[in-house]
Amino acid sequence: MIMQTKLTDSVEEAAAILNSGGVVAFPTETVYGLGAGICHPEALLQLFRAKGRPADNPLIVHIASIGQVAEVASAVSLQAAQLIERFFPGPLTLVLKKNSSVPYSVTAGLETVGVRCPANPVAREFLRLACCPVAAPSANRSGLPSATNWEAVHEDLDGKIDCLLRGDPSTIGLESTIVDCSGSRPILLRAGAITLEQLRAVVPEITTITITQPEERPKCPGLKYPHYAPRASIVLCSKNEKIDIKESSAAYIGMSEPPEGVALLKVCRTTEEYGRELFGFFRLCDARNISVIYCELPSDEGLGRAIRDRLMRAAGLC
Ligand code: TXA
Ligand code: MG
Repeated sequence: MIMQTKLTDSVEEAAAILNSGGVVAFPTETVYGLGAGICHPEALLQLFRAKGRPADNPLIVHIASIGQVAEVASAVSLQAAQLIERFFPGPLTLVLKKNSSVPYSVTAGLETVGVRCPANPVAREFLRLACCPVAAPSANRSGLPSATNWEAVHEDLDGKIDCLLRGDPSTIGLESTIVDCSGSRPILLRAGAITLEQLRAVVPEITTITITQPEERPKCPGLKYPHYAPRASIVLCSKNEKIDIKESSAAYIGMSEPPEGVALLKVCRTTEEYGRELFGFFRLCDARNISVIYCELPSDEGLGRAIRDRLMRAAGLC
């Protein structure tokens, strides 16, 4: 179905469209989200259709303030409470036991719900004006790199959603850290800008799932789908590796000196810059018909863990 997508800079206008049952893309500090009120079943259906998202992949529910956690979760463990106190609002999603106000269409039939309170002021105002909590996946077509500016949302979803609230580019550029706090021991399901080191400083017993434990995978249903993939193929390389470029349309992103002979390149000074630029660079490469993107793998610590995770998925390695 083709529809008119309203482009607006007005939070009030975007919230009014959401509150009348519309699907609205909005900025957050991680990536842009594609929102529908959890009290609007039709809008939730439309959201899955617009993204081309499989119905068995649950959505994160976004709230405007810590006080709203109780509107969607039925139990908050002591460890979850400690993480909320330290990191909400911010780039962290907690998986908690859901309560009856959260429909199974949002959680893909699970008894748990992902809950996030973003820090971006436009997102917070939008969520404050919303008449109920807002389910929102990243605002990209399923399988493509997440959208980190409104232009990327427009490219993927114009004519498929009711409204696009234009804001600034996302300052982090990588999706939120996800920690499952619904079981006896908290588990890091997705690495993000709140690093494992930061999480463990608050809750030391947090564990990780690794690709050597595939049986743990279904805990985060979305992780089984291909992600973040540009059309160009991804080749991973290590720091200062000598790369012999053979393709005429190759690109490079990383933190070391670029190889010679690339048609497009981005050298980042910090891991923060690398994270912020990654998905936009993937999209730029596709727009320029780049065939291979050489990506430097940062070290597996701090924000580097999240960048490595996205790169490995984009390369189809996990
Ligand atoms: O930064 C973010 O998290 C962005 C912004 C918009 O908030 N959202 C985002 O949503 O990245 P999405 O749908 O692209 O990724 C959410 C991931 C999926 O892999 C999904 O399977 C997982 O979170 N997830 C959601 N609810 C879950 C639950 N109850 N249990 C386990 N995993 C869950
Ligand atoms: Mg996504």
